[in-house]
Amino acid sequence: MKIYSTRRRPHRPARIVLEELGKRYPGAPGYAMDGISLDIAAGEFVCVVGASGCGKSTLLRILAGFETASRGAVAVGDEPIAGPGPDRGVVFQDYGLFPWLTVAENVAYGPKQAGMTRDDIREITDRCLDTVGLGRVRDSFPHQLSGGMQQRVAIARVLANRPAVLLMDEPFGALDALTRTGMQAELARIHRDSGVTVVFVTHSVEEAVYLSDRVVVMAGGAAHGSAGHVREVIGIDLPREREVTAPEFNAYKRRIDALIHEGERSAA
Ligand SMILES: Nc1ncnc2c1ncn2[C@@H]1O[C@H](COP(=O)(O)OP(=O)(O)O)[C@@H](O)[C@H]1O
Ligand SMILES: [Mg+2]
Repeated sequence: MKIYSTRRRPHRPARIVLEELGKRYPGAPGYAMDGISLDIAAGEFVCVVGASGCGKSTLLRILAGFETASRGAVAVGDEPIAGPGPDRGVVFQDYGLFPWLTVAENVAYGPKQAGMTRDDIREITDRCLDTVGLGRVRDSFPHQLSGGMQQRVAIARVLANRPAVLLMDEPFGALDALTRTGMQAELARIHRDSGVTVVFVTHSVEEAVYLSDRVVVMAGGAAHGSAGHVREVIGIDLPREREVTAPEFNAYKRRIDALIHEGERSAA
């Protein structure tokens, strides 16, 4: 088992390279997604958008190591993906916390598994809870917290493993609008401070434009009679602390919305 040598080991954000990635589920008539080629820089924030069924979650699960690709290649930090690993932190819509553990115990879980010392575990847990502003509920159980707070615990829990990559599949999809906006700002700050590479799937174009360096627009899928694929990749050239009401922000939103709907029309 891998033992982390020191609590000071920094995040080392990883580059992610996908080459002609394709996935065909057993028994399915065709490829769920295919021909996905992307080069994501270390520390980059990439959002993936597109209609339901175009293969966004499939892509993320392959990056997480929960699914294997049927063809093509995918590497994280120059290493081909061989399965799940602590270098990739995964956050889903449904928090996935251990209900029988306190907030602090949930966050300490990964470092404990990694064989860290008690002092190091304590320090990392405190720091990660601090990062998401949850120090004062460290001894609460998940069910005692709101959805937004539970999702912050889930984020702190993956950060405690000091991942090279954060993989998030509609993590804020179950939150109310106000909480969601707050979480987006918090995630933008965490990304800025940690420099971790993020791949983030969302249905919300606004969320994607707010968070991303680049937005990957996917199209296709079984419902459209084709494999899910990348339609276009759009760089968001706006200064950080983005203003969602700015005209430039809206121009990006409209352009990406059009691409998503064009995909639906041309496939119909
Ligand atoms: N475990 C699975 N077995 C068979 N088909 C699947 C499985 N998971 C997803 N699919 C199919 O693959 C396609 C892409 O699904 P998914 O990646 O979940 O898309 P998205 O997240 O963009 O909505 C869909 O047609 C879906 O039905
Ligand atoms: Mg999905």
